[in-house]
Amino acid sequence: MTTAVDAKQFRKALGSFTTGVTIVTTKGEDGKDYGLTANSFNSVSMDPPMVLWSLGKKSSSLPVFAATAHFAVHILAADQERLSNQFAKSGTDKFAGCKLARGDGGVPLLEGCSARFECRVVHQYEGGDHVIFVGEVTNFDSFEQPPLVFHGGNYGLVMKKAEDVADANSSFGNGWLGFLLARAYYQLLMPVRQNLRSNGLRDIDYDILTVLSMGDGRTVAELDRLVSISGSRVSDGDIHKLVERGLLTLGVNGDGESVVCFTETGRTYVFELLAIAKAAQSDAERDLDYREAQVMTLLLKRVIRSTAATLPDHWQKDHFWRANNLWNDPVASDTA
Ligand SMILES: Cc1cc2nc3c(=O)[nH]c(=O)nc-3n(C[C@H](O)[C@H](O)[C@H](O)COP(=O)(O)O)c2cc1C
Repeated sequence: MTTAVDAKQFRKALGSFTTGVTIVTTKGEDGKDYGLTANSFNSVSMDPPMVLWSLGKKSSSLPVFAATAHFAVHILAADQERLSNQFAKSGTDKFAGCKLARGDGGVPLLEGCSARFECRVVHQYEGGDHVIFVGEVTNFDSFEQPPLVFHGGNYGLVMKKAEDVADANSSFGNGWLGFLLARAYYQLLMPVRQNLRSNGLRDIDYDILTVLSMGDGRTVAELDRLVSISGSRVSDGDIHKLVERGLLTLGVNGDGESVVCFTETGRTYVFELLAIAKAAQSDAERDLDYREAQVMTLLLKRVIRSTAATLPDHWQKDHFWRANNLWNDPVASDTA
């Protein structure tokens, strides 16, 4: 370095500037597609429409971008973190698995992004250990997808700074997480409860059916232990009522213990309850955008994890749910 700047500290300070994430692509003179992840993108001019980005001189694609007359900038969507990592790895087939369209000069265009700019190169500037490319935008698309964010070396999501965040702690009810979670839970569960009532079933029946939906073939004692987190207890009488209703049946496991299983009717009824719960969730998320719904799920999972000291392990969604594709979980599958 020519100036006395601590590189680590400088990088850290720059990282406090939040950016989006882009992938810049071009077609080489050899006919191959090239591209890389870049967050140095910025707007330059409205008239004529111009944008810029900078490329490290150590980048293996520098000769290609230095020679090209066209490039395309893709502003990545919130769910394109994997693609961002794919295009940040030198020496790999970055376009593997990508569906491509073609733009001006045969430039590869990626799908699923938040916005896309096709550019004609109008300037190249020396910028220390980077080269700055300025392009005139010849074509652009905006797909209205929530964007991927980069801050302090980590990916993030954009969340609107709503006014109601400011007074979240203004009263007892609003600030006490237990109250908010309980109220949200009871309101969310209302349609399920109504269905249970119309079928002559009680909350304890719901607890039993829910626990069994995460894996049946459990003893009454096990069921009691797993349900007890909700404050309710399960008795033999509760199970017999559900057996009489034709929803459950009693069998014997490998250890000769009596276990509780679903009947076909019981299994079908649980699917029905889950469908009602899913519809209630869609209703509840109606006013949330994709980012807010994702952030809410992530934060709730964190609260669940941090308060999990006495949590029975069945509360993690298990094979039964996954095998039956009962609950899609984009957040879990994305971060898995
Ligand atoms: C979020 C993020 C932003 C990046 N921004 C830039 C950038 O603006 N300019 C750059 O030259 N490299 C940037 N990189 C690094 C390149 O993507 C990476 O070095 C890539 O492997 C270069 O590919 P190449 O050597 O095949 O040209 C970024 C990487 C990430 C993950």
